[in-house]
Amino acid sequence: MDTLIALVNRIQHACTVIGDHGTDAALPTLWEALPSIAVVGGQSSGKSSVLESIVGRDFLPRGSGIVTRRPLVLQLHKIEQGRQDYAEFLHLPKKRFTDFSMVRKEIEDETDRLTEKSKRISPVPIHLSIYSPNVVNLTLIDLPGLTKVAVEGQPETIVQDIESMIRSYVDKPNCLILAITPANQDIATSDAIKVSRQVDPAGERTFGVLTKLDLMDKGTNALEVLEGRSYRLQNPWVGIVNRSQADINRNVDMIAARRREREFFTTSPDYSHLANQMGSEYLARILSKHLESVIRARIPRIASVINKNIDELEAELARLGRPVAVDAGAQLYTILELCRDFERVFKEHLDGGRPGGDK
Ligand code: GDP
Ligand code: NA
Ligand code: MG
Repeated sequence: MDTLIALVNRIQHACTVIGDHGTDAALPTLWEALPSIAVVGGQSSGKSSVLESIVGRDFLPRGSGIVTRRPLVLQLHKIEQGRQDYAEFLHLPKKRFTDFSMVRKEIEDETDRLTEKSKRISPVPIHLSIYSPNVVNLTLIDLPGLTKVAVEGQPETIVQDIESMIRSYVDKPNCLILAITPANQDIATSDAIKVSRQVDPAGERTFGVLTKLDLMDKGTNALEVLEGRSYRLQNPWVGIVNRSQADINRNVDMIAARRREREFFTTSPDYSHLANQMGSEYLARILSKHLESVIRARIPRIASVINKNIDELEAELARLGRPVAVDAGAQLYTILELCRDFERVFKEHLDGGRPGGDK
């Protein structure tokens, strides 16, 4: 199954690259058939922090106020054990980042390139790929947070602009929603749950994530939600403890943060009985598992889109003429090859694998 997700990831990536080259092949359809995961929630609810924990690396701008100002489409690619982690941006195809603090700086610079150093937003996504032996194959989308009012330097339309931007991702039925809700606020006011209920009323593709459990008032806890008694979703809620702003200022690293999160749950009188279903690592695992089942269920549809695309890609290639030296042609060829790989692998799954069987 891992191979399939990896292939889907690579096809998505190739589509992004080609999309940027502006050819007219029917690739959007293919993109639509492939699942991704978007983080949704109020400003400073912990969205970027949750994404970083899932990836297990420090690379995203985080902090109070509006920090994330352009969508970040993040593709995680699992590579062989022992190889070094690296990152690449679509807008800097020749550059390999191995220093993740430089990745953060590049996200900041690239954000400012379209919005200047302001509190304004842009719907134009930044595309980043991270290659690491320690990730699961996923496509994640970091988004600006929902707000209630415009602040100094923002247009009056910003509240609606942000909501529309978020909707353009989560409206798609193939988008899983990570609904990020801070535990130190009333969940009835959660922006994330509000949006999720609009687009996914049955809660089938929403994962409720409760952040800031460490910041709840003494004497209160979030068991009502975490045990599924209120705000029930099809998938169980996951509680998270990210780094605080003080931790960020002190450069507390990811490994220490994860250890502390683990300790928080195992030693908490309220949550220790749930400890093995809590935390960022658990969240990453269930997301990957869920994605597998979504992809498995979609195989016939993805396959038919891919079959159609193979024909179209071949026609497109014939039109460009072979051998193809131009960039666009080479990219089309890559996608074609990936599509063929996909077809082969999924056929093996259907023929060889037990239905619903794993690996
Ligand atoms: P975003 O705006 O939703 O992307 O939120 P960020 O990830 O940028 O986090 C906003 C602020 O909340 C930062 O200062 C984080 O350190 C802090 N924060 C996020 N999650 C937690 C948490 O679980 N516990 C604590 N104590 N602070 C958190
Ligand atoms: Na923030
Ligand atoms: Mg953010």
